[in-house]
Amino acid sequence: MLLWSSLFLGLAIFSGSFALDNGLALTPPMGWNPYNAFSCDTTEAQYRAAAQGLVNLGLNTLGYNYLNLDCGWQGKSRNAAGGFTWSTTMIPSGIPALSSFVHSLGLKFGIYSDGGVYACDFVGGSAHYLGSLGYEISDAATFASWGADYLKYDNCYAVNATDFVDYNPPVSTHYVTMRDALAATKRPIAFSVCEWGVQDPARWPASAVGNSWRISNDIGPPASWDNLFRIINQLMPITQFAKQGGWNDLDLLEVGNSGLTIDEQQTHFAFWAAAKSPLFISTDLSDLSTQALDILKNRRLIAVNQDPLGASIAFKRRYTNDHDVWAGPLADGSTVAIIINWQNASKSVTFDLADVGFSSAQAVDLITGLSLGELRRSYTANVGAHGSMALKLDSGVPAPAPTFTFYNAATSNNTLAGGAATRVVNSTITVVGFVGQGGTLTFNNIDGGSSGGTKLLSFDYINADYTFSNTACSNCRYAFVSVNGGTPVEMQMPISGQSWDIIYSGYLLSMPGFKPGKANTIQISNPSAFTPDFYRVGVAN
Ligand SMILES: *[C@@H]1O[C@H](CO)[C@@H](O)[C@H](O)[C@H]1NC(C)=O
Ligand SMILES: *[C@@H]1O[C@H](CO)[C@@H](O)[C@H](O)[C@H]1NC(C)=O
Ligand SMILES: *[C@@H]1O[C@H](CO)[C@@H](O)[C@H](O)[C@H]1NC(C)=O
Ligand SMILES: *[C@@H]1O[C@H](CO)[C@@H](O)[C@H](O)[C@H]1NC(C)=O
Repeated sequence: MLLWSSLFLGLAIFSGSFALDNGLALTPPMGWNPYNAFSCDTTEAQYRAAAQGLVNLGLNTLGYNYLNLDCGWQGKSRNAAGGFTWSTTMIPSGIPALSSFVHSLGLKFGIYSDGGVYACDFVGGSAHYLGSLGYEISDAATFASWGADYLKYDNCYAVNATDFVDYNPPVSTHYVTMRDALAATKRPIAFSVCEWGVQDPARWPASAVGNSWRISNDIGPPASWDNLFRIINQLMPITQFAKQGGWNDLDLLEVGNSGLTIDEQQTHFAFWAAAKSPLFISTDLSDLSTQALDILKNRRLIAVNQDPLGASIAFKRRYTNDHDVWAGPLADGSTVAIIINWQNASKSVTFDLADVGFSSAQAVDLITGLSLGELRRSYTANVGAHGSMALKLDSGVPAPAPTFTFYNAATSNNTLAGGAATRVVNSTITVVGFVGQGGTLTFNNIDGGSSGGTKLLSFDYINADYTFSNTACSNCRYAFVSVNGGTPVEMQMPISGQSWDIIYSGYLLSMPGFKPGKANTIQISNPSAFTPDFYRVGVAN
């Protein structure tokens, strides 16, 4: 369901202790869901055609084996016994018959419901489809009796019958209630928590509540590159929470839909796969281009997604407005690296192996399948506009790790001007905030060593400016860095969390202009917006 409004949320700390150990989703679930192609206008004919399409196109043999419902299948009133109903218009032969058909193809069947009074819809909350709030135990039993293998559980009308979208609902308890109701059915039903990232589900711990949890507002429809940028930034602080049985859900795939170029669709798929997101195709399978189908059928990237280690790629380095480097480990000891070209034009991109900790490695291009042989120090290739490199790196030789001398932001050595001010985070951490909009933070007395020149800087910062809607910097903030009064260089810093007490350590930027000796300055500014709050900067020795 689509939510386009900006918001500023308080963090709800959920201090329960749960153990979701349902033995499901040991690798990210894969399948088909109608929403990005058909929103809530989902008919039985579409579901049957999609199920047949998964088989006819051979997608089921690659792992796409869930055929899931989304909004629009439900009835609007319960039956005489208080049970859940389907829309006889949308699903004329009924859910049990549809479920049997899906199972007869060797596929699994997924239900969709909502933890509120009514469910989400695509018409601003006026459809009033059934929700499961207060009926969790009987609804879970009904879904199990219909042969459900998966439940996507949405979050509309979570507090009452008039509040379509509430940004501070009791989501944790709603999802725990349904988790327990599903467990009581004794049927294995994968549980997909769909509360759009509100209240930081990766930290509920939703990893013990759901087999996956949405990390963000919807990817669409309509699809757009800006939506991908917003979701990629939002993933940055929570990659460590992906694990066997519990996954960061970056939302349904837009591969095959309008709004993204083929290069963008390729980047989208490679990133989602390597982030260990569930991979749900969400396009009309009867109208799929060969290029889009090839993206979805890439066995090498599917193998990365389904890798038994279950570790997500993590953010390594951003060259602002140029390229990102993300990487993570695979079970066989190799490393997968995704390098995204942020430029609006195709260009020569140089991947510096040191950004993933190697001086050399054997590489395979996961998009083409070609072996690239041994890469030494760097690899340069032409990458399409918003395209990417997706590399599997083996036999990596570790690069020497830089060491840093750190300078805290909130010390008397530094100059805080124009409104910049210290902020106590907790008993050990004080940061400098209100930098930007005229406020500046200047680190003084920075040691440029015996020769000065270009230095690698490492910033520790807090940015909880997260958003549902696309902004100038969606789920990120800009900061400008100037050394000794030189030309400011832009950093585009993703959120570090959803609350103003979670630090990201190690945002790297290489800056020229240092003088020998201890009289250097590093100034942080932004003429038109606030930067993140800064804890410290490290200067490479
Ligand atoms: C529904 O909840 C919203 C948000 O808490 C509240 O403002 C509104 O008054 C509630 N409406 C009813 C009818 O209870
Ligand atoms: C790409 O184009 C968009 C729209 O004109 C612009 O906002 C954005 O800054 C451009 N991106 C880069 C990296 O130049
Ligand atoms: C100020 O800078 C000097 C020189 O780098 C350093 O020795 C001192 O510890 C710094 N003081 C504080 C409070 O950080
Ligand atoms: C203070 O906050 C930092 C950053 O989140 C955290 O690592 C540290 O454990 C916190 N310290 C205390 C005493 O809470």
